[in-house]
Amino acid sequence: MRTIAIGLLGAGNVGGGVLRILEENRDAIERRLAARLKVHAVAVRDVGRQRHVDVPIDLITDDASAVVADEEVRVVVELIGGIEPARTLVLDALRRGKHVVTANKALLATHGRELFAEAAKHRVNLHFEGAVAGGIPILRTLREGLASDRIVGVRAIVNGTSNYILDSMTRAGLDYDAALSQAQRAGYAEADPALDVGGQDAAQKLALMALLAFGLRVDPIQIPTEGITRVRPFDIAAARELGYVVKSLAVARQTDDGLVLGVHPAFVPQDSILAGVHGAFNAVLVESQALGPSLYFGRGAGMMPTGMAVVSDLVEVCRAVLSPTEGPPPQAFAVIHDAAPLSVDDETCENYLCMHVPNLPGILGRVATCLGRHQVSIKTLKQDPQGVGEPVDMIIRTESVRERNLQAALAEIDSLPDVLAPTHRFRICPPDPLD
Ligand SMILES: NC(=O)c1ccc[n+]([C@@H]2O[C@H](COP(=O)([O-])OP(=O)(O)OC[C@H]3O[C@@H](n4cnc5c(N)ncnc54)[C@H](OP(=O)(O)O)[C@@H]3O)[C@@H](O)[C@H]2O)c1
Repeated sequence: MRTIAIGLLGAGNVGGGVLRILEENRDAIERRLAARLKVHAVAVRDVGRQRHVDVPIDLITDDASAVVADEEVRVVVELIGGIEPARTLVLDALRRGKHVVTANKALLATHGRELFAEAAKHRVNLHFEGAVAGGIPILRTLREGLASDRIVGVRAIVNGTSNYILDSMTRAGLDYDAALSQAQRAGYAEADPALDVGGQDAAQKLALMALLAFGLRVDPIQIPTEGITRVRPFDIAAARELGYVVKSLAVARQTDDGLVLGVHPAFVPQDSILAGVHGAFNAVLVESQALGPSLYFGRGAGMMPTGMAVVSDLVEVCRAVLSPTEGPPPQAFAVIHDAAPLSVDDETCENYLCMHVPNLPGILGRVATCLGRHQVSIKTLKQDPQGVGEPVDMIIRTESVRERNLQAALAEIDSLPDVLAPTHRFRICPPDPLD
């Protein structure tokens, strides 16, 4: 039986999962491939460190470049994370004609163009299923499973940290800071959660999904992105009263004019599929023309789910190594175009607005005048009783309105002297296509 030598860069969470899966599922993998996958070397930063998984002493090294350069290594698995030295190591591996598997969304989102070009030039594979939604095989589904269909939209929960925090706020009644601390204690949030709660992690994943779903390469920095840090228990309670749950969504929609992309917290109907995605789970709802809606759900992170996705990529890459005409399989799209997301100015939706104002005569009139001046119609209005002059939260649900008009109205409202804080605004999603 042929043996394929693997060079593993990183033996932390995901690297540990990869080692465990390769060990525990060795027979099943050999039966699938009719070949043996052998971990030839494992590079880490600190060889003396205690690990989740024991790495044999003769395999471990702190010289990642030497692992990449090792003539025997046929496939390099990059699980170091971050940009450098991961970028240099991956480029070196590709230039040496080695296939690469990675779960590094930050690297692909910022240097994808350079890395994919290098992979194509050297006719090797660069696979990255673990980079989006952890263990859920969503990239393979977009690339292969739906290859004959026309994907028109994606609505997804792809940041487990944000979902865990919003879920704790919704179900346990915690405020944002307490929910974040709980997520950190449970291992679902990093010590520095900025990229997760700020939405940038989800934007990077959305850019990778757009690449495979639409053949369009988008710079994640151009995706309109809003995090969850302004979500308050008050908004969660108001959403519940209206029949909604607050979720952080990554949304892509193909229109005749181009691609609409966005990451933002939104109200989703309480009985919708996405409202039922709890804790750190992920879900991706894909809308395609022939199949209609389809849902992909599971663990979006963690040692074993992400390790599984990485090893599945390894199996696929090793099939290419074993094929008599070794080389990369055709990409999802033979031609990939660069694209900028369309402006969301002409997007329309209903909205929840919460204005913090003093309970004084005339304030409602001034707010309503600003809304009316920009054709923003009020669907419902609610305000809890307060003493005269006391601060109060005025909740307005708008009819479906154009983003441009809403933003113009909010700019005016927030500059009124008696508005005490910037308006809290959330989009209200229509029901999922699966509901
Ligand atoms: N964790 C998840 O659930 C998850 C989910 C999806 C995708 N990912 C992605 O998977 C990748 C790995 O994440 P992780 O959570 O496994 O990270 P991690 O636990 O921090 O592991 C990183 C590993 O890289 C090693 N390393 C760091 N710098 C190195 C260097 N210069 N040379 C050689 N080795 C080096 C570390 O060595 P030491 O052990 O000696 O420190 C460690 O073993 C990241 O790109 C991440 O975004 C993670």
